[in-house]
Amino acid sequence: EKGGYPHFMLKEIFEQPKSIKDSMRGRVNASLGHLQLGGILQYANKLTNAERIIIVACGTSWHAGLVAEYLFEDIARIPVEVEYASEFRYRNPIIREGDVVIAISQSGETADTLAAIELAKSKGAVIFGVCNVVGSSISRASHEGAYLHAGPEIGVASTKAFTAQVSVLAMMAIIVGNKKGTITESQYIALLTELETIPQKVEKALKSNDQIVEIAEQFKDAKNFLYLGRGYNFPVALEGALKLKEISYIHAEGYPAAEMKHGPIALIDAEMPVCVIAPQDNSYEKIVSNIQEVRARKGRVIAVVTEGDTHIKNMAEYTIEVPATHEALMPLLTVIPLQLLSYHIAVMRGCNVDQPRNLAKSVTVE
Ligand code: F6R
Repeated sequence: EKGGYPHFMLKEIFEQPKSIKDSMRGRVNASLGHLQLGGILQYANKLTNAERIIIVACGTSWHAGLVAEYLFEDIARIPVEVEYASEFRYRNPIIREGDVVIAISQSGETADTLAAIELAKSKGAVIFGVCNVVGSSISRASHEGAYLHAGPEIGVASTKAFTAQVSVLAMMAIIVGNKKGTITESQYIALLTELETIPQKVEKALKSNDQIVEIAEQFKDAKNFLYLGRGYNFPVALEGALKLKEISYIHAEGYPAAEMKHGPIALIDAEMPVCVIAPQDNSYEKIVSNIQEVRARKGRVIAVVTEGDTHIKNMAEYTIEVPATHEALMPLLTVIPLQLLSYHIAVMRGCNVDQPRNLAKSVTVE
């Protein structure tokens, strides 16, 4: 059942070219300029005309929500707030006529997310569910939604659900951006074309597995880890840190790279591994200076870079390459090496990666 892999987590990491493809199946066709989500029809106009989108989720799904904040603001020009479901439900949140709620949940059973939906519904909001498990409580409680179609995720640490969530949320943002005209026709086609190539690019990103085993060997005894990213890759830094802490029990924190000098820089010394997500996007020059700041304090830099980047190679102790893609879709590639790094470190530390201590696959109590 693990398909020859030693753990479900590794199987699910390697399944991502397929699960992402499945999340797009029958939905994207770049050559026809076609993009459609069958589950979002009746309330499609509500989404297109939303004055604000409120995203509610927990954990890794909340990280996918943070990526969606960049996607919807960039592509569809809709203001977005991303809320921890557990915080949202116990506030007295303001929900107005033009607001739309998107709930993201792999299991569709997370108690806080479900309660957040019920609260938002009681205040008149329209709810779109983005779930993996068909027929789950959250999918039933939503007015409309889109399934991930990623297939069952067994490993407690979420991997293929995250990439399918980002893929579905990107499709939603692109549909809205196209309808609203906040992206041009050529930008629309370029995004669809890039989406279609993502599965093969993920396949390529997975080829760094052997190199990551070697890197894991070097860092398996670390006490702490810092993850830095900017823009679309800031949520990926949070996700990388969460993956590492939950399965290897190494303390890890993710930060937007520029926040480093507002505190965490004090932690950097020759013992501190710093994983920097540094693809060649709009923040490239800025993140290069962040790498230099870490190096100046003897921090050990592992950088995730765009294929062919030689500049960062000269500065970082290790560089892991991912293929180039549209900036908005980069999280689908940059998260792959971070999943693998956490997996290998955890295995080397003798941890039970599929069932980490104290964690449950779906958190049905608050
Ligand atoms: C992290 C992880 C958790 C879940 C969170 C939400 O790897 O698995 O943080 O992401 O419990 O679960 P869902 O998406 O089922 O609502």
